[in-house]
Amino acid sequence: LPVPYRLTVLGTGYLGATHAACMADLGFEVLGLDVDAAKIERLKAGELPIHEPGLEEVLRRNLASGRLRFTTSYEEAAAFGDVHFVCVGTPQKKGEYAADVSYLDAVVESLAPHLDRECLVVGKSTVPVGTAQRLADKLVRLAPAGSQVELAWNPEFLREGFAVHDTLHPDRIVLGVASERAEKVMRDVYEPLGEVPIVVTDYATSELVKTAANAFLATKISFINAMAEVCEASHADVKQLSLALSFDERIGGKFLNAGLGFGGGCLPKDIRAFMARAGELGADQALTFLREVDAINMRRRARMVDLARELAGGSFHGCTVCVLGAAFKPNSDDIRDSPALDVAVTIGRQGGRVTVYDPVALDNARRAHPELAYGESALDAARGANVVLMLTEWPEFVTLDPEELGSVVETRKIVDGRNALDPMSWRAAAWTYRALGRP
Ligand code: UDX
Repeated sequence: LPVPYRLTVLGTGYLGATHAACMADLGFEVLGLDVDAAKIERLKAGELPIHEPGLEEVLRRNLASGRLRFTTSYEEAAAFGDVHFVCVGTPQKKGEYAADVSYLDAVVESLAPHLDRECLVVGKSTVPVGTAQRLADKLVRLAPAGSQVELAWNPEFLREGFAVHDTLHPDRIVLGVASERAEKVMRDVYEPLGEVPIVVTDYATSELVKTAANAFLATKISFINAMAEVCEASHADVKQLSLALSFDERIGGKFLNAGLGFGGGCLPKDIRAFMARAGELGADQALTFLREVDAINMRRRARMVDLARELAGGSFHGCTVCVLGAAFKPNSDDIRDSPALDVAVTIGRQGGRVTVYDPVALDNARRAHPELAYGESALDAARGANVVLMLTEWPEFVTLDPEELGSVVETRKIVDGRNALDPMSWRAAAWTYRALGRP
């Protein structure tokens, strides 16, 4: 392949937009592609379709330098690129556990017929194990250049909210390759990142690393949330339990924060897709524990609704509930499978008047749930509330002044869904403070 490689990034969602901008920042010429023309127009104008701290600067800087461009044309992408990164989503299928990989197939089917010279296609999406080999075969079958078109699998581990940092400073790089040539190209591509551990392996293992990592993280969260359930039954304190566990280096303190549990576009659907795939492979027994991980996680949401109803006096009818947080976690506008919104919607269905506020996810929440009411600020949303639920630990919620919030609510009752508030200061201001897993 001619050096320096020219890169394309196919799909410009959370993953693709970040990857395209960061690779351009590393000095590559990059062409981003999406089938959504409106999204491409916004990106060309230096506007991100998502909220991701720090990314807009990287995008604008590289648009200005001319290293980063966008298109909707596969023909142009095929002519331009030596290395094509595939960054499309693999959402959960409706009514099923399995992942929908049709966007990946669509990319391969659109790109391959234009591939008339040597190139490397690199999958970054999270997929059911076995997908890479299937796509590799399909590429060779559909591309005019045949076996000169190779596939590599290179899972992405970035966290929303830290996407730029995680892309430029990854913990590790995993390369699923079928040839030394592909390995060499991938090592060259990531060379500008400096010293990063690289694990070179086969397609199947590389696909599994990503799914296994997310399954482990989900399990860790559900483990501490299961402990929270036991703490609730025994009047123990899960926050102190978690702190004490965290000093054991074998356990570690990360992902050990008990609360409303995990949501987002990755962990929930990835553990379900993993179970579905294991079932297809006849290995379903290996992952039955993930069913429990999922069930524990969903029970936290039900517990939150129960706690809120208890504080509301046994019923939500005639009760105003303020929900602080709509995003699935802070520093994101992503509301996919958001525990906070799920709780808000359930309380609304049970007769509560719910007012939601979120610093950046408000527009997304409004579009998805027009049936709920929304405030313009935390104080606005809390006006006249009988119960306040803090469900996404945005810094501006964690630093709320109990007196100030207390001056606008009807009754001073709060549930801390993320164990992020200081119970002492809220109780000192005459609030009834409740949390998940704490007395
Ligand atoms: C996750 C993985 O971390 C990332 O490596 C992968 O590439 C994509 O999926 P992300 O979905 O951005 O990233 O969010 P993450 O920070 O992992 O949080 C997931 C959820 O777990 C959030 O809802 C968060 O609130 C919750 N969480 C996290 C807890 O409830 N407790 C914790 O201790 C940590």
